Amino acid sequence: MGVLEQFRLDDRVAIVTGGARGLGRQHALALAEAGARVAICDLLDDAGERTRAELAALGRDALYARADVTAGEQLDSFVQEVMRRFGRIDILVNNAAMPSEGVPLSDVPDELWRKIVDTNLSSMFYVGKRVAARMLAAGSGSIINIGSINSFVISNIAPRHNVTYCVAKAGVAQLTRGMAAEWAKQGIRVNALAPGYILTDQTAASAKIPEVYERNVANTPMGRYGRLDELSGALVFLASDASSFMTGSVLTLDGGYTIW
Ligand SMILES: NC(=O)c1ccc[n+]([C@@H]2O[C@H](COP(=O)([O-])OP(=O)(O)OC[C@H]3O[C@@H](n4cnc5c(N)ncnc54)[C@H](O)[C@@H]3O)[C@@H](O)[C@H]2O)c1
Repeated sequence: MGVLEQFRLDDRVAIVTGGARGLGRQHALALAEAGARVAICDLLDDAGERTRAELAALGRDALYARADVTAGEQLDSFVQEVMRRFGRIDILVNNAAMPSEGVPLSDVPDELWRKIVDTNLSSMFYVGKRVAARMLAAGSGSIINIGSINSFVISNIAPRHNVTYCVAKAGVAQLTRGMAAEWAKQGIRVNALAPGYILTDQTAASAKIPEVYERNVANTPMGRYGRLDELSGALVFLASDASSFMTGSVLTLDGGYTIW
């Protein structure tokens, strides 16, 4: 197979969680452009429907369903709906997450700690386990968990350091290795993407604070935030046969942020 053909996803079926907007929407569009049929879930129905229409406009069969990634029964129904509609699941992008806590660690309520860890880490187990059951039956699949530079380093936005978010994202890296170890022999590859600062709805609020924006830019050797589309190549690479000997890796795309 030619090298560019290895990136094609024709006839594959992908799930992207949190695919209504931001990076999840971008991931869904990239997978569809490479040929995949895509199912997205989210809690934002209007944005979800808009993204579904954009996917359909690319000529791909697409589905949006409301499903909370922390709610097991909703995930059971969502996975069943995808199987009914498309008959298979080849790719899972565990993307949904909530923003960091924005307060010093000593002020984080227990309930907020639990919610961030549940949404940003445990959800990848809840969704991954359910989708992997279908992939194990089929004998193949590619799972991509969305980590962060905070899988490796703590945010430096003193006096707060978003510790809960960073702990959850560090867990995503280890969950990725654990899933990869468990399922490698059964044809499922599991890798993670660790992006640096990208301008999205999630980062827009903090990026409006000049001090935060300037610090993030100064801490990034390339001297800028990333664009939404700058993760698409790596995402399609991990989803496709182009990365067929790769599992358990955490791929960093951060403009050099973790060099220093
Ligand atoms: N933007 C960045 O700079 C950046 C950097 C590193 C990693 N990331 C990661 O990339 C991913 C996407 O981030 P983004 O910036 O596009 O954020 P975003 O807030 O714009 O998008 C997240 C999406 O997930 C959905 N979501 C949240 N909780 C959910 C739940 N319980 N069930 C279902 N859907 C839910 C939201 O509604 C939203 O559509 C996240 O995992 C984030 O941590 C982002």
